[in-house]
Amino acid sequence: MNRNKNYKNFIGGQWVESVGRTTFQNINPADSNDRVGTFQRSNADDVATAVAAARAAFPAWKRTPPPKRAAILFRAGHLLTERKEALAHDMTREMGKPLEETRGDVQEAIDMTLYMAGEGRRLFGQTTTSEFPDKFCMSLRSPIGVCGLITPWNFPMAIPAWKMMPALICGNTVVLKPAEDTPLSAFNLVNVLTEAGLPPGVVNCLSGFGPEAGAPLARHPDVPVISFTGSTEVGREVAHGGADHSKHVCLEMGGKNVIIVLEDANLDLAIDGAVWGGFGTTGQRCTASSRVVIHKDIYSEFEQRFLERTLALKVGNGINPGSQVGPLINEAQLRTVERYVEIGVKEGARLLCGGQRLAGAEYDRGWFYSPTIFSRCTPGMRICQEEIFGPVVTLIPCSNLEHAIEIGNGVLYGLSSSIYTRNINHAFQAMQEMQTGIFYVNAPTIGAETHLPFGGTKQTGNGHREAATAALDFYSEWKSIYIDYSDKLQRAQIDT
Ligand code: UN1
Repeated sequence: MNRNKNYKNFIGGQWVESVGRTTFQNINPADSNDRVGTFQRSNADDVATAVAAARAAFPAWKRTPPPKRAAILFRAGHLLTERKEALAHDMTREMGKPLEETRGDVQEAIDMTLYMAGEGRRLFGQTTTSEFPDKFCMSLRSPIGVCGLITPWNFPMAIPAWKMMPALICGNTVVLKPAEDTPLSAFNLVNVLTEAGLPPGVVNCLSGFGPEAGAPLARHPDVPVISFTGSTEVGREVAHGGADHSKHVCLEMGGKNVIIVLEDANLDLAIDGAVWGGFGTTGQRCTASSRVVIHKDIYSEFEQRFLERTLALKVGNGINPGSQVGPLINEAQLRTVERYVEIGVKEGARLLCGGQRLAGAEYDRGWFYSPTIFSRCTPGMRICQEEIFGPVVTLIPCSNLEHAIEIGNGVLYGLSSSIYTRNINHAFQAMQEMQTGIFYVNAPTIGAETHLPFGGTKQTGNGHREAATAALDFYSEWKSIYIDYSDKLQRAQIDT
């Protein structure tokens, strides 16, 4: 295939080469012969130029009435809808997940764009009473400034949209640094916004690697807001870098999510959910259902039927109709999965299926790994504690609901959890007790919608949420206003 294009950075409304004139290749993870594009390998100088452009664009964008900002977002949402199919094809080519899933990724970007466009005519604050007569009180949301957005490769358009759309509707300007594995989808999104009428400099996008481009963006003194989705390790560095300048930092990091299957569950449904939650996106979701905790009375039946369904999964190039599980994103991710499978075997977990890289003509040019199940695991094993980010599901037996909840909560992370049961009391008890930011009943741990807060507790995040109106709280600052029309000094807490 020879469709390799040369992509530049988008800074101040212009497509420009990186200052160092260096580039890197974006390669299809399913087929190493397919070069998706050549992208700029940006460094701190490029970041500085992009931040300066975003800074220069801020005053005018801040003064643009939110319904006018919204009109641009509405147009962008409609353009994305028209181009959904082509955008999904580009995304499968650079990221690997099957077309059905990349269509979903583009749809999530559309949903977020239209949702935040709707906020242009809301962005509600409060009006409230005062301690005094003839005094009026209200609060307003104000934009903060340049937002540095650092996004991962697993949702190459949805996550840039999660971060960009609320930032923009609130009146901020943006410098986006997408993951080096999937810059094309981010540029496609930025192109659509530009076509929809976004003024130059409001969104700037540069490609490159974390240490060279992401880190200088996170540390730049003129970037008061940083939103990062990625590994816990890097998230901590971003937080440390942000502390020096008292930045607003939103971190979305790892997960070790759990599905609980009780003895009265609809097993067909639970198995459907475990297959989709565990192996969808090749397990490369922070919400992936990487642990399944199963009541001992139904354990053997669940194990057997889950195994049959897993063995029947079609792994292949996501562009081929019929492929259900795509490749891993790159060699490093494949090595991580291989390492964890070795650890699981050494820890004494039973390898039910998978555990190997796939070979043969269909697979030799990609990072394909067979869907893997470890059974009869104990909760403390590293494969049940650490995020693997690949097609590896661990099965853990439990004796009752309390035991399941204890196992479920017994990890450092707190993103998503779920329960399969027909017992409403048990469903509500688990809802109360699970220490995760997202909880599902009779559904797997993946599948969050854009109008509810997204994020996790404990070491998954740092207390912020993305999506929904919760995102507006991150991308704006409250300004409280007191208007005294009494014509006299009224001293709060003293003259009341
Ligand atoms: C992620 O796993 O990185 O809830 C994001 C979901 C998707 C988003 C996942 N809507 O699984």
